[in-house]
Amino acid sequence: MKASVDAILQAVQAEYLDRLTTQSDPLLLEMESYGAEHRVPSADREVARFIEITARAIKAKRALEVGMAIGYTTIHLARAMGQDGLVVPVDPSDEMIEAASRYFERAAISDRVRIERGPALQVIPKLNDTFDLIFIDALKYEYEGYLEVALPKLRHGGVVIVDNLLWGGEVASDPASSDRDTAALQKFNEHFMRHPQLLALVLSIGDGLGYAVKIG
Ligand SMILES: C[S@@+](CC[C@H](N)C(=O)[O-])C[C@H]1O[C@@H](n2cnc3c(N)ncnc32)[C@H](O)[C@@H]1O
Repeated sequence: MKASVDAILQAVQAEYLDRLTTQSDPLLLEMESYGAEHRVPSADREVARFIEITARAIKAKRALEVGMAIGYTTIHLARAMGQDGLVVPVDPSDEMIEAASRYFERAAISDRVRIERGPALQVIPKLNDTFDLIFIDALKYEYEGYLEVALPKLRHGGVVIVDNLLWGGEVASDPASSDRDTAALQKFNEHFMRHPQLLALVLSIGDGLGYAVKIG
């Protein structure tokens, strides 16, 4: 009984927070509709906003994004970092790069985005940048690999944000899941929380957001 009352209260709260988190930017609104219509996976609105708030709060000037899709979160990052900022999104999909590039033109941020085409595990080790913020949002079973190749390029005090760590609740419901993504995320979450170079948390924002600062 208690469990079902808790579930109802949580659903009511989530609906209330959704209503509070309105979108007034017409381009972002259009991207949200495009994503829903074309089944392009983009971060939830609250996740994108949380990333933007973080980038502004730490005065980030260089951000790495692993998995760009149509560039919904890329635009939030570029806006947060201002004219002298640079976002480096990595994505292997020609289709996504084409769609995102059109949105970047319209958002007038093309000169502040350097798209790296290719699989992140191959691309990131070749980058010579130092980043203030890293956002991970591509193949779930490669998350641990992304973190390990990207972390050396994050400055001390820089922030790592990772999407989908609760995976719709799957990671918590079956501790010995045989699903590849669920099992990989369960392993990643343990690794992330105990990482000697990170002070980390998993927040119940969106689909579960990993949030860490580099301390070592
Ligand atoms: C969840 S979407 C990214 C959404 C985006 N961060 C946003 O919130 O707007 C995942 C993206 O990862 C890309 N992807 C797939 N394999 C990848 C890889 N090996 N390296 C980097 N990106 C990859 C896909 O093409 C897709 O665009």
